[in-house]
Amino acid sequence: MCGIFGYVGGKDSVSILIEGLKKLEYRGYDSAGIATISNKKIHLEKSVGKIADLESIVSSKSRISHIGLGHTRWATHGQPSKENAHPHLDCTGSIALVHNGIIENYEELKRALCAKGHVFRSQTDTEVIVHLIEENIRHGLENAVKLALKKLKGSYAIGVLYKNNPDKIIVARKGSPLVIGIGEKENFISSDIPAMVKYSSRIITLEDGDIATVTKSKVKIFSATKTSIKREETLISWDPISAEKSGYAHFMLKEIHEQPKAIIDTIKDIVDPSKKNIKFKHLNLKEKDISNIKRVVLTACGTSWHSALIGEYYLEYYAKIPSEVEYAAEFRYRMPIVDKNTLVIAISQSGETADTLGAIQEAKKHGAKVISICNVFSSSIVRESDGVIYTMAGPEIGVASTKAFTTQVAVLFLLSIFLGRKKNRLSKAKFLSRLSSLFEIPHKVEQVLASEDKIEKIADKYCNANNALYLGRGEGFPAALEGALKLKEISYVHAEGYPAAEMKHGPIALIDENMPVVVLALAGRRYEKILGNIEEVNARGGRVIALATEGDRLITKKAKDVIFLPKTRETLSAILAVIPLQLLAYYIAIKRGCHVDQPRNLAKSVTVE
Ligand code: AGP
Repeated sequence: MCGIFGYVGGKDSVSILIEGLKKLEYRGYDSAGIATISNKKIHLEKSVGKIADLESIVSSKSRISHIGLGHTRWATHGQPSKENAHPHLDCTGSIALVHNGIIENYEELKRALCAKGHVFRSQTDTEVIVHLIEENIRHGLENAVKLALKKLKGSYAIGVLYKNNPDKIIVARKGSPLVIGIGEKENFISSDIPAMVKYSSRIITLEDGDIATVTKSKVKIFSATKTSIKREETLISWDPISAEKSGYAHFMLKEIHEQPKAIIDTIKDIVDPSKKNIKFKHLNLKEKDISNIKRVVLTACGTSWHSALIGEYYLEYYAKIPSEVEYAAEFRYRMPIVDKNTLVIAISQSGETADTLGAIQEAKKHGAKVISICNVFSSSIVRESDGVIYTMAGPEIGVASTKAFTTQVAVLFLLSIFLGRKKNRLSKAKFLSRLSSLFEIPHKVEQVLASEDKIEKIADKYCNANNALYLGRGEGFPAALEGALKLKEISYVHAEGYPAAEMKHGPIALIDENMPVVVLALAGRRYEKILGNIEEVNARGGRVIALATEGDRLITKKAKDVIFLPKTRETLSAILAVIPLQLLAYYIAIKRGCHVDQPRNLAKSVTVE
């Protein structure tokens, strides 16, 4: 997916566009471009590579413009190149367009347009849109956009400039996010909120099917069938500083260290000051809905799928509700057995993951109640759900998700003990003791973060390994999966998470002195079994890095390196265990010279299928 940013107002649009694109670079960063209008002419600058490369091109141009569109790309159709970078122009160079999404019927549209004499400059799906607008521009810009959109199949968030309407930007969305920022005699459009917090806290979130005309003083929203649509303005509390790095080398490291605050903010948003009652502000589940829940399906992608696995353990353990976890893309294309007695929980940091959005739509078709656990206010997944529980992690910019995971697990813990109480399957005493254990977690996370230097030294020892295994049992297994994903996605080392007991059913063949094996060996019901797995690895010359509980005297005799974690309730241990795994992946990636915040081939939110 990609990042779109637009400006119209009284200031120099070029510098504002570049600044906005830098905030969106985590959404895609293989090429970028801007289109501006001055003297009734469209000026286009594009480059392969980072925004900084584009910035060096535009800074040499001395031109004043007060309106423009910018785009940073994550290639879907057409390799990263200057020709394929957005914005794209029509044949006459009078119309410029940026797009985030996928046009599924672009090949047939392109054939028809070429037959009419249109000349294409790129291999992208996007370019068909600007030529379709060109086809109809004689009907005026708004109508030309409406007519073009009618022909499209797939997803889009677009911004359009027309040199004969030099004071307005047209935007439209279907299946990809688009927000409008309201300023003082200036307005902004963006793929998401962090790019705009510096300029405006007044946000309008467009819905699927919306089209809008944006000038410096007015926003008019309409659709293919309605001449006027009212969308509420939202006041965003994020401050610009919180969206910056605050002195850390990378967003990922900043966000790892923000976890104590992110977790406590999330808990306090749900648990009242007495620390005795849970109140979900936007759950929208009535007592009857809760008593009707016979089964839960948790659905998500990536890191959010790992927190869903922990949620499954919690729901069955505390609320005794049969639960299962589904990859969103698998769920939405199967014939899932889901009905009005099924609660579907969709988990997403960004709230824009296309497959998770599709899974929700599929679940609702079958009559299920859907709630989402999400970190972005009023995002597409939130708006598609019957209810939502927000993680209060603040903007997560690093592509590798960190604080979203730990706050999602905290929310799932609270939801499970809440449902356990509501369904009389968890005693008041156990409910209160679980709550107090959760309130201790942020401080314990601080304690784990204090061992960062030791973890960096361990990263030094293993940063040249090209493979790794991560093993855990119970809630430690999803944490092992999450640790492996972190290492994979930011250091490009092949790492696999496995249930520790599964080792002897195949993966143990991989063990030798070149294979670091991270083992989550925390105090609990499964500790002795995990020690057995460590022995199996040692017997084959493997190199074990163990996560253990403070006070464990045995482990130092079994593992080459040990990272001790504070004692906590076994069910909450995954939140603590994932912190050293995040740091281990971070430091290995740094030592391997990888771009931690913008790993190759990845993007922060996958808004395409
Ligand atoms: C996590 O580090 C990855 N960046 C990725 O797996 C991510 O978790 C996944 O794309 C889901 O994103 P979401 O939580 O925003 O839906």
